Amino acid sequence: MTKKIMILPGDGIGPEIVSQVSKLIKWYNENTDLNFETENGLIGGASIDAYGHPFTDETLEKCRSADAILMGAVGGPKWDDVDFDIRPEAGLLKLRKELELFANLRPALVFDALIDASSLKPEIVKGLDIMIVRELTGGIYFGEPRGIETLKNGERRGFNTQTYTTSEITRIGEVAFELAKKRSNKVHSCEKANVMESGKLWREEMTILHADKFKDVELEHMYADNCAMQLLRNPKQFDVIVTDNLFGDILSDEAAMLTGSLGMLPSASLGAINTDGKMHALYEPVHGSAPDIADQGIANPLATILSFSMMLRYSFGYKEHADRLDNAVQTILNRGLRTKDVMAKNCTEISTMQMGDEIISELSS
Ligand code: IPM
Ligand code: MG
Repeated sequence: MTKKIMILPGDGIGPEIVSQVSKLIKWYNENTDLNFETENGLIGGASIDAYGHPFTDETLEKCRSADAILMGAVGGPKWDDVDFDIRPEAGLLKLRKELELFANLRPALVFDALIDASSLKPEIVKGLDIMIVRELTGGIYFGEPRGIETLKNGERRGFNTQTYTTSEITRIGEVAFELAKKRSNKVHSCEKANVMESGKLWREEMTILHADKFKDVELEHMYADNCAMQLLRNPKQFDVIVTDNLFGDILSDEAAMLTGSLGMLPSASLGAINTDGKMHALYEPVHGSAPDIADQGIANPLATILSFSMMLRYSFGYKEHADRLDNAVQTILNRGLRTKDVMAKNCTEISTMQMGDEIISELSS
């Protein structure tokens, strides 16, 4: 059956890394029984330049009707001065919110071949495999009221609202517990229940959900600041970490850097399963648009390629193809082929395009 993929290259290095996946998709169409149909659309600064808005309703509708979405990255200094509510990032937030992509899966995996790229000692990170499950459509990112107002005394006041409901907490908790069951069966739930009411509720609802449905999974509550510290002290104590939108943004960057190679980390943002059995899903690398290295052919496309592998796995259930693609990435790294960001002694530096080609020739072999 043909799967429709909407591709949003975005800004900075987005187009060059995403085009490696387009090449890969063409290879799958020509060489396997898989069949993909793709369409490209604009998001972020590229969309602001073309339409004056970071994500148009027309592109949104195309995403809604696709079977999965692949994005590069958004943002860059060029759009620093545009109005706050139409910044490139606002386009991505609109896509997440409109398709209700509430479950953001961010694996932090240390590849043996890249162990020296981590700033932590090898024995601390060797074999590290953490899954951060970040709530993506609630919390302070979207809470109302929000704004900047001028007070009577002339001072300005900026404000945002952190809010979570039972159902928002429960549905992300379920994703985390279900994932843990397929992994090492352990969930750390992180909030600031010692300071914030929304955190207190988060902890209570996670406890109830655990007792109701997931008693066989180990659950540990942890304050988010302690989690930030523990991630550096002893990251291998973690299996699945479930947390809110803002803490998840921060903790996932920290966990990503434990691996030493932000350019390697994929992500999936999954929605609820509709009555017709369809689940909206967006796949994107965790790294940003890196405008400083755009158009030089040196960006690492592997995070995007691994995001495509997550698409094969989570949206389409093509587990064997996903495994094969993940293995191809490992093999290329083991052979010492590297893009500049993860370049090391005795390795060979190759370009963005060459990396795409190497993955394809490894799949073909
Ligand atoms: C991320 C990014 C986004 C976020 C930005 C680009 C809106 O930092 O995906 O982690 O803050 O969620
Ligand atoms: Mg972030």
